[in-house]
Amino acid sequence: MSAALVRSRGTVLTLFCALPPPCMPELYGNTTGLSPSAIKTLERIYRRRVPSDRIATPELIRSLADASRESRRQVGALVHRSGQVDYVVVGHATGLMLPDIGRLRAAEGRFRALRLVHTHLFNEPLTKDDLVDLTRLRLDLVAAVLLNPASEPQRMSWAYNVPTFEGKGTPYQVVGPHPYGQQEPNFAELIGSLEAEFAQHDRTRTVTAKDGRAILIHVGEKRRPGALLRAKSRLGELTSLARTAGVEVADTVIQIRDQPDPKFVIGAGKLEDVVMRAIDLDAETLIFDCDLSPAQAHGIAGQTDLKILDRSQLILDIFAQRAATRDGKLQVELAQLKYTLPRLGAKDDSLSRLTGGIGGRGPGETTLEIGRRRARDRINRLEKELKNLGRQRSERRRRRAQSDVPVVAIVGYTNAGKSTLLNTLTDAGVLAEDKLFATLDTRARQLTLPDGKLVVLTDTVGFIRGMPKDLFAAFRATFEEASEADLILEVVDASDPEQEEHRDTTSQILSGLDLDLTARLRVYNKIDRVPAEEVLGFEAEPGSVCVSALERGALAVLLDRVSDELVKVRSERTRKAREAAQYAEFAENELSP
Ligand code: GTP
Repeated sequence: MSAALVRSRGTVLTLFCALPPPCMPELYGNTTGLSPSAIKTLERIYRRRVPSDRIATPELIRSLADASRESRRQVGALVHRSGQVDYVVVGHATGLMLPDIGRLRAAEGRFRALRLVHTHLFNEPLTKDDLVDLTRLRLDLVAAVLLNPASEPQRMSWAYNVPTFEGKGTPYQVVGPHPYGQQEPNFAELIGSLEAEFAQHDRTRTVTAKDGRAILIHVGEKRRPGALLRAKSRLGELTSLARTAGVEVADTVIQIRDQPDPKFVIGAGKLEDVVMRAIDLDAETLIFDCDLSPAQAHGIAGQTDLKILDRSQLILDIFAQRAATRDGKLQVELAQLKYTLPRLGAKDDSLSRLTGGIGGRGPGETTLEIGRRRARDRINRLEKELKNLGRQRSERRRRRAQSDVPVVAIVGYTNAGKSTLLNTLTDAGVLAEDKLFATLDTRARQLTLPDGKLVVLTDTVGFIRGMPKDLFAAFRATFEEASEADLILEVVDASDPEQEEHRDTTSQILSGLDLDLTARLRVYNKIDRVPAEEVLGFEAEPGSVCVSALERGALAVLLDRVSDELVKVRSERTRKAREAAQYAEFAENELSP
């Protein structure tokens, strides 16, 4: 039987299905090309027994060293607490790949009842891989026997899991390397007290974040000027998105490279560091501030059993949590399925890892843990249903258009203050929170302007740069509300240092929706947070108005401007209609015999 080898150079274990402990002596790992005598030596390791108070006996260590000398490879024994050697594993010169010992973690507060005792051929101390195996597999302990050039045990080092408090400190304790033969701790007592400590810690640990902790990762490209500044600002936005999704941000990581790594986005070495950091900080999710290709998602998932998400999945997750109407829910579910489909393998481990919690929430009845065929069926059904709902929406819009009441659409970057503005203007009671994407569904409210004219005000979903393609397509229907507008109020958070980029994003999206020609009034919001001299600059810009959506009194200026703009729109429309009528009359006269 070939062992499911799970650790390659500098990686973390990913386990697929559990292998029972062998009844026959069976060797695991890199066994090709071993001499018959080396195989015999390795098989003899199974005969060793370790008393419960010892990490390893001199006999076991001697056997491991002999086997290493013969094979020129690292050799390890996974020793059960009963004292029996459950697995003998052969590695290569500098590493060891463990067999699949079961995906399930040991129960909370308990270790796996297996310790790894293995050789290091070059007298090198415990490696990152050793520590990752220790923590991710909740092994009882990992011990390295450091051999001298004659393959004799010279020093010994071991590490065991320790609880961390509020993510501080490392989750393991390394002891040594000490000269070989020095007093070892009483193994049974050590593990007993550690398990008691973990059980106590698990009971008292307060989980602050709803959905665990995550490390956020941004990769910047060297050739872009100001890459670091940009990276920081992007991470700021990703942090807001993560918080909106209910994730606690344990740490952020920036890597500036020539270009993103095609396989792991960040370099393999950096990924290793980040995984170690995640273990240190008790974080269970890595969130990449870019879209991961299916190949990258698989590549990274193959290196760690942490949950891997990208920016699109995070945005989709927020949308999934917050969509309130039937329309919104169906749109989000469709977008999630379309994003998920290319990432669904026949037996996709990374996706099953997504189920539950952040990245795995579906707004409808479907969970994301479904197969390809069912996903396609569901996509077809959702598209049909959305088409019907789209018809109803255009019917509503048609009736609104017939009613001759002008429509004013509030658009803008997410968190700019659109809902607050609608609320203050109309007392609509639309959800307004200091989180990104508080609004997911279009709301329409009536408002009487100071000149007595009635208008319909609509609030649309917030825009964001790099809107996932599928999500944009799904939400096009929501944005379509704006296409019926007589006037667009483009709300900009004037206090946001990124406001210029936000304005660009908004312009791009509006032009993508063919709304460049609709009359537009730019509303610089949150001026209560902006220094007076900057406000003057905004005010000087033609076609703009400065407000604080929180202050109803200050909005009179805005309402007057809306009235003026609508008068202009009306007269422009009348002019065009007149011209069209004149042209039609002219054409009829010219063409009639
Ligand atoms: P999405 O629904 O995510 O697109 O957001 P939005 O544009 O509708 O923003 P929302 O109205 O939810 O406001 C976002 C945050 O900004 C809330 O905490 C508001 O209280 C705050 N806010 C809105 N307008 C102002 C303002 O004029 N001044 C200040 N200081 N805060 C404001």
